[in-house]
Amino acid sequence: MKQVSIAGANWAYSEQGSGKPVVLVHGFPLDRRLWSGVASELASTYHVISVDLPGFGQSTLGPGFTIQSLADGLAEFGRQLHLTKFALAGLSMGGYVVEAFASKYESMLSSLILVDTKAEADNPQQKQGRDKMIELVRTSGSKAVADDMLGKMLSPETIRQSPQMVRDLRMMMEAVPPKTIETALAAMRDRNEYLSLLPKLTVPLLIIVGQDDVIAPPTLAQAMQQAAPKAKLAIIPTAGHLAPLEQPKSVAAAIRDFL
Ligand code: MLT
Repeated sequence: MKQVSIAGANWAYSEQGSGKPVVLVHGFPLDRRLWSGVASELASTYHVISVDLPGFGQSTLGPGFTIQSLADGLAEFGRQLHLTKFALAGLSMGGYVVEAFASKYESMLSSLILVDTKAEADNPQQKQGRDKMIELVRTSGSKAVADDMLGKMLSPETIRQSPQMVRDLRMMMEAVPPKTIETALAAMRDRNEYLSLLPKLTVPLLIIVGQDDVIAPPTLAQAMQQAAPKAKLAIIPTAGHLAPLEQPKSVAAAIRDFL
């Protein structure tokens, strides 16, 4: 495991392959293993770097974060790894982070890839949902959050065909410390909207969504594409909210075609 120290937290990451850099950011409450299959596929032609956000996977939480401070951390991460321009992909919460990154550091990007994510801010009802989930993790721990979310993460087909993936995913989610979960929920609740950013972006944009994603469904991916008509959209069959985990070959193929 490699790591760099950024603003009081250790950011763990993996890198493989050589070529143009591609940085991969996971969602909530997950870690960089979400991208393992995609990273292996892309490593034959790219320098692929997958990172654990603070408090997730092998990274330490440090003083806490907002979505914007994660974007600032990612810019520092890029500088420490001497990445001048890189392709940046983020899934769901990772998508919020890379949107915030693009709004401030677009000159560091060669392209942007939004996966199973959205660009709207939380509405009042969704904010209330975050507060309820914060209460749940405080009173009942990470396992209760995993119990609540697990059924919505994967497509019904994946759940039927890959019981081992369901078990591994549960372990990944349960391993995230409650304090990290609470911090991430507050960060997502308080994030900005980035729909208005999309038409202004000059870097190429790819939007990827699992056909059966119920958390950030294809209708929201289509709304992002409408906001940025030059964006490419790839809908991944037999995938839910975690398309890179469920269909790594199809997701890697979509990224490769785009890059
Ligand atoms: C994620 O998958 O990162 C989260 O579910 C996103 C969210 O809750 O908004």
